[in-house]
Amino acid sequence: PYPVYEQLRDEAPAYWAEDANTWVLSRYDDVSAALAAPETFSSAKGIFPSPPGVDQSDLFLPMLIMTDPPRHAQLRALVSRAFTPRRIASMETSIRQTTDHLLGQINPGPWDFVSDFAGPLPAIVIAELVGVPADDREQFRAWSSTLVQANPIHGARDGLAAAASLYEYFAGFLAERRRTPRRDLISDLVHAEVEGERLTDDEVLGFCLLLLVAGHETTTNLLANSMAILTTRPQDRARMAHEPAVLASAIEELLRYDSPVQGLSRTLTRDITLHGETLHSGQTALLLFGSANRDHRAFANPDEFQVEREPGRQVAFGRGPHFCLGAALARMETRIALHALLNHTSFKWFADLPAAKRLHSGPIRGYASLPVQ
Ligand code: HEM
Repeated sequence: PYPVYEQLRDEAPAYWAEDANTWVLSRYDDVSAALAAPETFSSAKGIFPSPPGVDQSDLFLPMLIMTDPPRHAQLRALVSRAFTPRRIASMETSIRQTTDHLLGQINPGPWDFVSDFAGPLPAIVIAELVGVPADDREQFRAWSSTLVQANPIHGARDGLAAAASLYEYFAGFLAERRRTPRRDLISDLVHAEVEGERLTDDEVLGFCLLLLVAGHETTTNLLANSMAILTTRPQDRARMAHEPAVLASAIEELLRYDSPVQGLSRTLTRDITLHGETLHSGQTALLLFGSANRDHRAFANPDEFQVEREPGRQVAFGRGPHFCLGAALARMETRIALHALLNHTSFKWFADLPAAKRLHSGPIRGYASLPVQ
């Protein structure tokens, strides 16, 4: 259970968090309604809770995730020309190969689930998706893990340096793909066209970086949280190993039960009244997905993990116009990875939770290290 979330939902569903200088919305209906109302809850000034006076649009390249409608819909239509369901589906075989390769490298005895498996897998998948050649993958993975571990809002220099290196790398790549298009995402992004409009170079680069920011650590921690939750549930594991429908609904339940993204922020564009409080234009509101997903007003027995819970309502991927573009990819990766682990003959599925180290992060809930056997 998350007792603080429960107290917030019951006693102060619109809560002013003085220290963090933000409103906090914790009920399912309020979080869902805010996500569906970008004209009032704007993403343009940033989506991470940040110190007063920090405008995150100064820190990042133009990014889809920090753009409001109507521009957002145009950008999303353009990137969707390249980031297609067909492209995602076509990655299934290579994700399986990468999974088998990573598991094949693991020595018998204890290993670290995060650094040896759940960290590398999504980085390799994104590298492949974008079109990073095999020779550059190690370097790319190193930058990516520095980038995701650092919080650029607080000026973590390693993170900013890694972002700069990635930017430069992608820029070279982009120039090359302009000259010689290949069958990869970056080539398709460069040439995507909707009603005569194309993405600028900065928009293509921003999108490539966004894929890492949005798709790496999130997936890593869905896998790590899944490992931790399932370690005490042998019966659920046995069913998930052999029944594809149970595996699919279990993944939705894992997303709900321990959401990798616990919350993201919006900025109010006008004054509104909610639960008797006035939220003023210019103030921020933190939308707690993790709490919404445990709200008994939306889910019966929310603190129970039920592998076959009716899927479809959890908000771990957000909702509305910014609904996670990579949701199908994240689900596929998790399905392939869990299936391989659940059916692996020599994997005991034992996570040493007392020895695990939690990740210190604002939005992300998960593990920095998770010893397993
Ligand atoms: C957006 C969660 C995996 C790409 C989002 C949002 C959430 C989210 C909550 C909404 C942000 C907002 O409303 O401000 C997750 C979780 C994942 C995951 C929990 C894994 C378990 C991925 C992957 C990719 C990806 C694998 C791509 C490689 C994106 C993009 C957006 C997004 C591009 C922005 C969409 C937009 O602004 O229109 N994700 N994500 N995500 N995600 Fe994911």
